[in-house]
Amino acid sequence: MADLIVTIDGPAGSGKSTVARLLAQKLAASFLDTGAMYRAVTFAAVQAGVDLSDQQKLLDVLHGHRFQFSTRAGGMSVAIDDVDVTEQIRSPDVTAKARYTASAPKVREELVRMQREFAAGRRKVVTEGRDQGTVAFADADVKFFLTADPAERARRRQAELHAKGCNESLEETRKAIEER
Ligand code: DC
Repeated sequence: MADLIVTIDGPAGSGKSTVARLLAQKLAASFLDTGAMYRAVTFAAVQAGVDLSDQQKLLDVLHGHRFQFSTRAGGMSVAIDDVDVTEQIRSPDVTAKARYTASAPKVREELVRMQREFAAGRRKVVTEGRDQGTVAFADADVKFFLTADPAERARRRQAELHAKGCNESLEETRKAIEER
């Protein structure tokens, strides 16, 4: 296991990614964006055309491909079977559908195992995601829980979506954020 593990938990739109990325840079630590893992499985499942509500199918997708997560300047890159999908997993479609993957316990179990494996091979890790300090790394050296006002969380998420050309109303964004 790494010498230093810092976890940053919190709900969507609370600022976890920004804080985790900056902290990882300051500490010269590897940054683990666990949301990107759920997004990658979701993306692969959508590509395969499987029923997203079928947990076993999602697990088959996870076992049927090589998911590669690596640290790069200012973030983490994601590849599936050697094809870089770092940008594709940020699409509004994947963002909306990731909740299927996130609510499949067997997929969570496997991704937590992969997160521990990622940390085991590195000296310092800053990891972010809603279950990092509570489940994945309950013995972490330092744990943070970030939160923000629901209206502010919705506003941030909407700005992100608008930047990607998706014109959802603030109310729709707020509902979607609550569902996640
Ligand atoms: O933080 P994000 O938007 O990239 O997360 C993508 C999805 O994965 C979102 O539905 C939250 C979920 N997630 C999770 O359930 N557990 C984590 N450790 C990280 C993300």
